Amino acid sequence: MRIIDLIHKKKRGEVLSEAEIKFFIDGYVSGDIPDYQVSSLLMAICFKGMDKQETTDLTLAMVNSGDRIDLSAIDGIKVDKHSTGGVADTATLIVGPLVAAAGGKVAKMSGRGLGHTGGTLDKLESIPGFNVSQTMDRFAEIVNTCGVSVIGQTGNLVPADKKLYALRDVTGTVDNVSLIAGSVMSKKLASGSDKIVLDVKSGSGAFMTDVASAVELASMMVDIGTLAGKETHAFVTDMNQPLGNAIGNALEVREAIEILSGEHSGDLKTLSCRLAARMLILSEIFTNEEEALAEIEKVIKNGEALKRLAQMIEMQGGDPAVTSNIALLPATKKVVEVKADKSGFISSMQTYNLGMSALLLGAGRTTKDDIVDPAVGYWMKKRLGDEVKAGDVLAEFHVGDKDPAESIEIFKKAVVIGDAPASGIKLIYDIITP
Ligand code: URA
Ligand code: CA
Repeated sequence: MRIIDLIHKKKRGEVLSEAEIKFFIDGYVSGDIPDYQVSSLLMAICFKGMDKQETTDLTLAMVNSGDRIDLSAIDGIKVDKHSTGGVADTATLIVGPLVAAAGGKVAKMSGRGLGHTGGTLDKLESIPGFNVSQTMDRFAEIVNTCGVSVIGQTGNLVPADKKLYALRDVTGTVDNVSLIAGSVMSKKLASGSDKIVLDVKSGSGAFMTDVASAVELASMMVDIGTLAGKETHAFVTDMNQPLGNAIGNALEVREAIEILSGEHSGDLKTLSCRLAARMLILSEIFTNEEEALAEIEKVIKNGEALKRLAQMIEMQGGDPAVTSNIALLPATKKVVEVKADKSGFISSMQTYNLGMSALLLGAGRTTKDDIVDPAVGYWMKKRLGDEVKAGDVLAEFHVGDKDPAESIEIFKKAVVIGDAPASGIKLIYDIITP
């Protein structure tokens, strides 16, 4: 078999066989096939697509490129949660403790920020002392004790995705349904949970900008998960504005703590509760959403959810006191208010650019080796559809060592003030089940 023939075949829009897909993945991981040929094949896939069988074959070839995690040391049904990536998407930090407090088990491996999107590991590391590297034995012990643990991926989990993602990132080949499905589902299938709840983002801050392609991606992933023997449900949710109000690592941890304390509500809380309810149903702890949501409200009110977060933080080496005293989180010396230049309604947001604005402040990385400043970011004061008057505060920027001028300029362009509020925006567009 030769890779050049596969490139020609896909360029003509033909279907690749299971053996051909395995040849491409194995050859790339071993180093036998160079980046430039894989880039060419990826671009052909972006133009011509892959069908469901090819996507499933791709996913399984990727899973088989590395180790599968064994979570059998953790009692009960383990349900994983994954978002395709967004801005101010702090749901994992809220969902994990909610599910744990209601009796479920969440053993989650998360990633770092990527492009304009934040990463759960970077957020957790803003908690003084928190350690995202744990041995598998300790990981199991933490989940068995407090119901939830979030750690970084271990060395050899889907090496094919590590290589392919880095290449896609720099060759304009991220936003293809099959390549995203393969990337996400290979990691989910390898990471050992029994069932999966996906949050597929759609909108100006998501890889899939329209709802129809997000639904297509969601359906593809539900089919692959189900085929591989792991019941998978997918929410298709809005990313036409940041999900929460906080963008930046320590600020997002603070928002999660405020939600778990019952002090704060909004879309981030609503979606986190719905995702947690679905995970509890898949965990076979509840049979319907109303009962699950009632229990979730209960564990927020009685403090049990926040306690689970504190326990997890403590078991992973962090200072659990942050959950009762947010002043212990890293903070900037300087806070700058950004105000509206004119009156009107928030009619749209370029959410991708809102993520980039925070990244440029130092909340994310432009190269792999950049150091993240945990304290910087901004807190948004307005949502889509809100009426604003000239001079109203749109956001509070928490500014560190970097000059915020460019970030603020990008932010102001990205929050569009028009004559009419945004229309057609829903928090949850669809829920796809097997
Ligand atoms: N998240 C992933 O893990 N992979 C993708 O390809 C896109 C989003
Ligand atoms: Ca269905």
